[in-house]
Amino acid sequence: MKKFSMLINAKDKIAHINPEIYGHFSEHLGRCIYEGIYVGEDSPIPNVNGIRTDIVEAFKNIKLPILRWPGGCFADEYHWKDGIGDKKNRKKMINTNWGGVVEDNSFGTHEFFELCEQVGCEPYIAGNVGSGTIQELAEWVEYMTFDGVSPMAELRKENGREKPWKLKYLGIGNENWGCGGNMRPEYYADEYRRYQSFCKNYSGNNLFKIACGPSGDDYNWTEVMMKNLNKDQTKGISLHFYYVPDWSDKGSATQFNEEDYLTILSTANRMDTLLTRHTEIMNRYDPNNEIGLVVDEWGCWYEVEPGTNPGFLYQQNTMRDAIVAALSLNMFNRHSKRVVMANLAQVVNVLQALVLTSGEQMLKTPTYHVFDLYKEHQDGEAVYCYTENENLCEGKDVPMISSSASVKDGVMTITLANCSLTDEAEINCDICHFAGTEVSARILTGDVHAYNDFDTPETVKIEEYTATLVDGALSVTLPPCSVVTVTVK
Ligand code: AHR
Repeated sequence: MKKFSMLINAKDKIAHINPEIYGHFSEHLGRCIYEGIYVGEDSPIPNVNGIRTDIVEAFKNIKLPILRWPGGCFADEYHWKDGIGDKKNRKKMINTNWGGVVEDNSFGTHEFFELCEQVGCEPYIAGNVGSGTIQELAEWVEYMTFDGVSPMAELRKENGREKPWKLKYLGIGNENWGCGGNMRPEYYADEYRRYQSFCKNYSGNNLFKIACGPSGDDYNWTEVMMKNLNKDQTKGISLHFYYVPDWSDKGSATQFNEEDYLTILSTANRMDTLLTRHTEIMNRYDPNNEIGLVVDEWGCWYEVEPGTNPGFLYQQNTMRDAIVAALSLNMFNRHSKRVVMANLAQVVNVLQALVLTSGEQMLKTPTYHVFDLYKEHQDGEAVYCYTENENLCEGKDVPMISSSASVKDGVMTITLANCSLTDEAEINCDICHFAGTEVSARILTGDVHAYNDFDTPETVKIEEYTATLVDGALSVTLPPCSVVTVTVK
């Protein structure tokens, strides 16, 4: 057993935690949209207007706040008009990025908004800059948001939707340094300025426009964006970072040793450096935080499960992924002054998924349970918490304890992860300037290789746990490889 002191000062506020930090991402990739979310109205799988009821319930339970769509790389080849109107007449296309399979466009704009309405989440549309035209993107915005007489509003009405939808978040392209057009940052910045000019605020709708940001540590990209993008026209800059130590051999999601585990954790911890350094650049141009950092793709990316289509990016999800999710979300909370949104890749059946499906079965992954444990941070005020720590591995940055805390409506939520695979951690925490007297806790723990499959979907699940609070002194013991939420009120 190792002992760690911790201090939380409820007066010492970092920033508001936007619910969108707990966001997600759904791409036309593998079995994410089709099978995972959308099964069609005639499916024997229970659905409402073609959307699986089990996934909607699962998403509601974690208060899923925002969903990004339709890509990813798919977004920069997506032509939205192919995905509206009578399904029989919708154009079929090749999904060139993801397995070369036929995309029949049966899930399009109307179906996406229907999904968001059922879940009760914000839609986040990623527009096509790489292979689309300005007119196409401008018309999409008009189609979705204009309440009046116009060609696109008429078309929307002909397709059965009288009233426009509300759309806040609009991405102007995706990875335009790569699959979205291989652009140089100076060129993309000019393209961004042009494209966004024609995306109008119609009928009281107010767009939060997001520019394509850097890949990982491409600090020059951020610098060029901040230098060239106008604050009136840009509310966010994205960042993509996948936790992949070696792209030529991404390793198995389930077969790994302790060194592999520590390597993924140290890669994930690089997120903290990236957030700090991109923030430093943004601070120089935008000291008042008018432009947010939007980490709209993050997570673990392994080799696909044996026997599955390599283009479908289907992977299992173990307690290792839960630990990675826990420390990532703690980092986002701590950086919530600049980080206004983050979207895990991806929501169903792809990469570090929340849920997996097989026919009519659905299971919640360990990563899903972390979002459940952390959901009360949404809309809280992040407060500073200082934790004594110890590094788990020489030469790698892997702190044993990860933590963050927030306060909302008189309730403090403290989330902790013990990354050690061998040692318990006794946390003794002084809580200052907070009047709570009742404490409760929930835990997710298990062998680091443990995962849920369709025969045993509850191998890894949340359980009630014990913490004590005496005169502001909180005490909780974290088993090895565990994620714990402590609630004080
Ligand atoms: O999430 C899978 C892919 O990763 C996305 O399509 C792309 O944006 C990123 O490279």
